[in-house]
Amino acid sequence: MTQHFDLILRQGNLLDGPEHAVDLAIQDGVIAAIAPHLDAIAAQDLDISGCLISPPFVESHIHLDSALTAGDPRWNESGTLFEGIEIWAERKRNLSLEDVKRRALEALKLQASHGVLFVRTHADVSEPSLTPLKALLEVRDRVKDWMTVQVVAFPQDGMYGHAQNEALLEEALRLGADVVGGIPHYELTREDGVRSVHRIFELAEQYERPIDIHCDETDDPQSRFLEVVAACALRRNLGPRVTASHTTAFASYDNAYAFKLMGLLRRSQINLIANPLINLTLQGRGDTYPKRRGITRVKELWQQGLNVSLGHDCIQDPWYNLGNGNPLDVAHLAIHACQMTGREEIRACYDMVTDRGLHTLGLPATKLVEGDAATLIVLAAPNVFEVIRNRSPVRLSVVRGRVVLARSPALVRWSANFLT
Ligand code: FE2
Repeated sequence: MTQHFDLILRQGNLLDGPEHAVDLAIQDGVIAAIAPHLDAIAAQDLDISGCLISPPFVESHIHLDSALTAGDPRWNESGTLFEGIEIWAERKRNLSLEDVKRRALEALKLQASHGVLFVRTHADVSEPSLTPLKALLEVRDRVKDWMTVQVVAFPQDGMYGHAQNEALLEEALRLGADVVGGIPHYELTREDGVRSVHRIFELAEQYERPIDIHCDETDDPQSRFLEVVAACALRRNLGPRVTASHTTAFASYDNAYAFKLMGLLRRSQINLIANPLINLTLQGRGDTYPKRRGITRVKELWQQGLNVSLGHDCIQDPWYNLGNGNPLDVAHLAIHACQMTGREEIRACYDMVTDRGLHTLGLPATKLVEGDAATLIVLAAPNVFEVIRNRSPVRLSVVRGRVVLARSPALVRWSANFLT
C-alpha cells in the first residue's frame, strides 16, 4: 500500500547523513521516514536535489530593540561602542511599544528569510518604562509558531549606573524575561562590575533563569570580569546555563593570564558568544598599527572543547549600520578573522550558527533523524563548504513540519553574445 505523508523532500543531501542523496518524509510535524528513494505520495512533494538539509540557523546574540534604527537620530561617525551607547540613549527617549514591535518583527522576518528559526535577543531594561522588554515579550509570544525567541533582561546602562537600574532588572524578570543579563565592564568601577556579576547569579537562582552577560567588550586588557563569571558559574555549578558574550578583551590579554583563564573556563563549562561582524569594527579604534582585531579567542576556545557560538549582535543600529541578519555572513567572517580555514574548522564555524547556538540557548540539538521534530532548513548548495563559500540562500524553512517560507532559485541568464 502506498504511504501518504504531509511533505516529502526529494533527493536532498543530509548534513551528517549518508554520502548519497535521500528522500525525507514528514508527517504530523515529525520526520517520519528517510530513505534513498521513498515510494510514497505527499500533499507537498518537493524536488530539492543538489541542496543541503540542515539544522536551522540560530541567532544567539542580537539586539532587536535597537535594530533598524541606524541614522536615527544621528549616525555613529566614530564607530565606537561608546558613541553607540550615547546615540541609543538619545533614541530610546522616543521609544514606543509600537515602534519596537514593528522593528523587531521586521528584523525577525529578515532573519527568518536567511534560515534563522531560533533567536536570543537582548532587551534594554535601563528605562523606567521597560518599553523594549514589554515589546519584545509581546513579539516573542506572537511569533512562537515560526520562531523561538528568548529575551534577555539587559541593563544597558549598568546595573549600578543609576539608582533604579537594579530594581528594573528584577522587575524585568518578574515580567517574564527568559534570561538575566549584565554589563560589568560598563559599570562605574571595577568593584561595581564584580558586585553586578554576583547579583546576576543571585537573581538567576532566585528566578530560575539562565544567564547571558555582556562581558569585557573592550580592548582593555585589565577588564577581567570573565574570570568572575566563570568562577561564579563553577562555584554554583551552573556552567551550561551561563553565557559570556563578546569577551573581546580576551584578545588583548597576555598569554600567561589567558592560559590561566582558559583552564578556569574549561572547568566552568560556560558558553561563549563571539560577534565578529561588529567587534571587528568597534574594537581597535584606539590602536594605530599593529591594529587589534578585537575578536575573542574563538579558535582556541573551540580547541579547548568549550561551546562557542556566533552572533550578529546588531542589524542597522547605533553600533553597526550594516548587517542583514544572515548568520552565514557571520560564520564566513569568523572563518577569516579567526583564521579557521581548515575543513574541520569551517565546519565548526557552521555549527556555531546552528547547533552550538542551540546549546547556548539551553535547547536540545537538532538530530535530523526519523522520529525527531521536523524543524529544518534547505540550503541551495550540496554541502556545508559550498554553503559557506557562497553564502547560499535558504530554499525552504520548515518548523515542526510546516513550511514557513520557500524561495525560488535565482536564475542568471547570459546574453548570447557573451557565451563563448
Ligand atoms: Fe551585544
